[in-house]
Amino acid sequence: MLQMPLRPVLATIAALALAFAVAPNADSRTKTPKQNPSQEAQASYRPTDASLYVGTDTCTTCHDAEAKSFNHGPHWRTDLDKKRGPEWRGCEACHGPGKEHVEGGGDVSKIISFTKLSSADASRRCLDCHQFGEEHSNFSRSEHQKNNVGCIDCHSVHAAKVERALLKQTQPQLCYTCHLETKADFVKPSHHRVNEGLMGCTSCHNQHGGFLTRQLRSTAAQAQVCFTCHTDKAGPFVFEHAPVKTEGCVACHVPHGSANPHQLRRSNVNLLCLECHTFTVDSAAPAIPTFHNQTQKYQACTMCHVAIHGSNTDHVFFKR
Ligand code: HEC
Ligand code: HEC
Ligand code: HEC
Ligand code: HEC
Ligand code: HEC
Ligand code: HEC
Ligand code: HEC
Ligand code: HEC
Ligand code: HEC
Ligand code: HEC
Repeated sequence: MLQMPLRPVLATIAALALAFAVAPNADSRTKTPKQNPSQEAQASYRPTDASLYVGTDTCTTCHDAEAKSFNHGPHWRTDLDKKRGPEWRGCEACHGPGKEHVEGGGDVSKIISFTKLSSADASRRCLDCHQFGEEHSNFSRSEHQKNNVGCIDCHSVHAAKVERALLKQTQPQLCYTCHLETKADFVKPSHHRVNEGLMGCTSCHNQHGGFLTRQLRSTAAQAQVCFTCHTDKAGPFVFEHAPVKTEGCVACHVPHGSANPHQLRRSNVNLLCLECHTFTVDSAAPAIPTFHNQTQKYQACTMCHVAIHGSNTDHVFFKR
């Protein structure tokens, strides 16, 4: 970080310049707290007193590696926002006011370090700006936040491997670093082509959280996410096959991948259908007719009931 001997000199100049620039401020809420506030306290607080801030250019004099990544990424744009106070601009929008840090020649107790914050506190600083919009507004209800997975577990401001969205890794590898159990699903014979790059985990899940279980996305019409791509299954049909709409696709399919054809939950289609279409009192599904002899051709249900996701012409789904 600090390799060049010029740095201490620059530091002194910067510190002196600041010492003269500081003006006393009467507002107790925004005044620098007297005692040494913890990292957590500093992070929960965005003082508006402009005299506590030094600006990105000053930080750059000592931290050129971080300045380079900052300029290369999207956040340099915050420095253009002159409508709001300095607490929303540049390095200090994330790391907090830096005057005391600079005057202390780089006093690490006077600047916010994300690696010293709890996951939730670190994320909250990012959310000050990023909580708006459907994509991110539900982070607090996400399984990620609840399990101490925060923004900087997936994103890196200064050392991103993937420029777009400042990711630490590309998908799906990023997700597999923690979700090993899921990795196995996507190499099964019948699977969604996530590893092949045809879609991402985030095509179906909102990694930033949402209202549905399993952090699933929904379509614009609030229907299940599967309809965004499988529009032909969405209907509406004159004759709906009830479970498609009531229980969702996962009543019959495994969404990630399966050893069975068509990502079906069961190896044989008749076993799947007969989970519902049997003679039980409490089943909403009619039992199969008695002539459906299961030792013969009637095993291959979808040979005849071809429009299994719904039909506009036939109540037993023989035709679409
Ligand atoms: C006078 C030179 C100087 C200036 C100017 C300066 N820093 Fe530092 N900074 C340092 C030094 C020295 C360290 C300690 C480095 C170390 O321990 O490796 C440091 C450490 C840090 C750390 C790490 C804290 C930690 O706990 O490890 C952050 C974050 C940081 N600076 C941000 C900033 C920001 C933001 C600014 C502008 C507001 C800034 N610095 C301006 C010298 C400076
Ligand atoms: C968008 C928020 C954000 C901005 C803007 C930002 N940083 Fe950081 N900075 C971070 C995060 C998060 C880390 C932790 C490492 C990472 O994610 O890359 C970090 C790490 C650092 C570190 C390493 C010490 C540590 O805590 O690990 C220094 C030094 C630093 N930043 C300085 C700067 C300087 C100087 C600027 C402006 C040129 C700046 N940062 C702008 C978020 C930010
Ligand atoms: C002061 C407000 C502010 C803060 C705080 C902030 N950001 Fe940003 N962030 C922005 C702006 C502005 C952009 C650029 C938006 C654009 O181009 O549409 C951005 C863009 C991004 C992007 C998108 C990059 C892309 O390629 O699309 C990511 C990821 C991101 N920020 C992550 C973070 C993380 C992680 C933190 C906390 C460590 C953070 N931000 C803190 C304002 C902020
Ligand atoms: C579990 C990993 C993960 C976590 C945690 C996470 N992100 Fe992301 N984020 C991603 C991925 C992956 C993308 C890229 C999605 C894509 O390629 O479509 C992304 C995209 C973004 C983008 C840019 C695109 C957009 O959707 O606007 C921003 C900004 C962003 N994240 C901010 C944040 C902030 C702020 C937090 C913390 C509150 C956070 N992220 C937490 C994985 C994560
Ligand atoms: C740093 C580790 C980590 C990373 C990286 C990560 N996750 Fe998670 N994720 C977790 C933890 C921990 C949980 C909560 C426990 C669980 O359900 O496994 C979770 C939960 C989830 C859930 C909710 C599961 C449920 O049962 O409700 C989904 C969906 C999810 N992650 C998707 C993703 C996706 C998509 C990515 C990549 C963009 C990703 N995760 C990256 C750690 C991570
Ligand atoms: C085609 C859409 C789709 C894709 C792509 C997808 N998921 Fe899922 N995922 C789902 C659905 C639907 C569920 C809920 C399954 C259920 O409730 O039975 C789920 C469940 C999960 C769960 C909860 C545990 C479990 O297995 O039921 C995790 C964790 C998860 N997904 C992570 C991931 C990760 C990581 C990726 C990328 C490698 C990914 N998902 C890609 C649709 C998808
Ligand atoms: C981002 C688009 C996309 C989303 C979202 C999506 N799929 Fe798919 N799905 C595809 C594509 C593309 C294929 C064809 C895969 C191939 O040829 O490798 C496919 C194939 C399938 C197959 C057939 C596999 C076969 O072997 O015939 C099933 C079943 C399936 N998806 C179910 C689902 C379910 C259930 C969901 C919601 C949880 C879903 N899909 C969400 C794109 C998507
Ligand atoms: C009642 C059980 C059931 C439900 C619910 C169901 N499917 Fe299917 N699906 C099947 C069966 C059985 C097949 C295999 C058809 C065959 O053998 O020709 C299949 C095949 C598929 C195929 C591959 C062949 C084709 O028709 O494109 C896709 C894609 C698919 N389903 C997507 C979905 C989606 C998306 C949903 C949710 C909207 C869904 N399925 C709900 C039973 C179901
Ligand atoms: C999750 C339970 C479930 C599964 C699995 C299921 N079904 Fe159904 N099925 C139903 C329900 C519920 C109805 C609607 C009954 C009603 O509306 O009165 C229905 C209706 C039908 C009907 C129309 C009956 C009529 O008289 O209108 C046919 C045909 C049918 N299913 C065939 C199948 C086949 C073939 C499979 C296997 C590929 C299958 N079902 C899998 C629950 C299921
Ligand atoms: C060789 C063609 C064929 C096969 C294979 C077949 N069916 Fe049928 N299925 C029929 C015929 C014909 C009817 C009667 C249609 C009618 O009443 O108009 C029927 C009716 C049904 C009904 C409606 C019963 C009712 O009371 O409304 C259900 C449910 C059903 N089949 C389920 C299945 C299941 C489950 C399988 C696989 C185990 C299957 N079928 C295999 C031809 C077939």
